[in-house]
Amino acid sequence: MAHYPVNMDVKPEVQAFFDEATNTISYIVKDPASSACAIIDSVMDIDYAAGRITYEHADALIDHITSQGLKLEWIIETHVHADHLSAAPYIQEKLGGKIAIGAKIMVVQDTFGKIFNEGTEFQRDGSQFDRLLEDGDTYMIGSMQAFAMYTPGHTPACMVHVMGNAAFVGDTLFMPDGGSARADFPGGDAGTLYDSIQKVLALPDEMRLFMCHDYGPNGRDIAWETTVGDEKAHNIHVGGGISKEEFVKFRTQRDAQLDMPKLIIPSLQVNMRAGEVPTDKDGHPMLKVPLNGL
Ligand SMILES: [Fe+2]
Repeated sequence: MAHYPVNMDVKPEVQAFFDEATNTISYIVKDPASSACAIIDSVMDIDYAAGRITYEHADALIDHITSQGLKLEWIIETHVHADHLSAAPYIQEKLGGKIAIGAKIMVVQDTFGKIFNEGTEFQRDGSQFDRLLEDGDTYMIGSMQAFAMYTPGHTPACMVHVMGNAAFVGDTLFMPDGGSARADFPGGDAGTLYDSIQKVLALPDEMRLFMCHDYGPNGRDIAWETTVGDEKAHNIHVGGGISKEEFVKFRTQRDAQLDMPKLIIPSLQVNMRAGEVPTDKDGHPMLKVPLNGL
């Protein structure tokens, strides 16, 4: 862990925005020493049956930033989400800020570029994003230093973002009673996910962890914040020293029973483009459905 610049003395203000349609939690993270902030994992609303996109969830983030007089510096994607669409370009157009994702986005773009049979106009070099992050890369939110930890397994481009005493875990972990995310998407791997989770659990016990998703298992209220210590002790998939072998066996069996996320087809096409909606040859916004392709 030595090369990660952990600084528990910096305590950012974290505002969560829960999206009921997709069980996603978006965050606005504010530097405690300035008005600078970052957004983690924004959501664009879609009525897939009607082919209609809207921006109520993104507008709530924008309204918060505007009303609090904050300055948006970063729009972070923890990974290429398969269950909701990013609103990053919409937010960037209104408020500025740089869109960042893990550098392994190129692997994801290559995989899904083939599945969606994209032409050469779809670049597989991550150039749709403003910043591609490698393991341990740092960036500033005002005077607060943040860093990205490479945590593949759920997808090949997953990163956990750490800002002072707050870490945004994306889909590496769920709340302790939710366990972990699936590892069966193209490029996913249960053993790799286990190793990545160990990196997160090696952060200080008091590190605040913020989830990207929560489904309120066993009828409990939706929750999104826990700590490293709590996950280590109580996570139902990886807590209490469960071995890699046990985890891989369980995760693989479980994933084989899961349906595809409802929005995976639109989500991938939009999110691999940093949230831009693809267009047809005449420039109309248009999505594809590859049959038996996933
Ligand atoms: Fe995900």
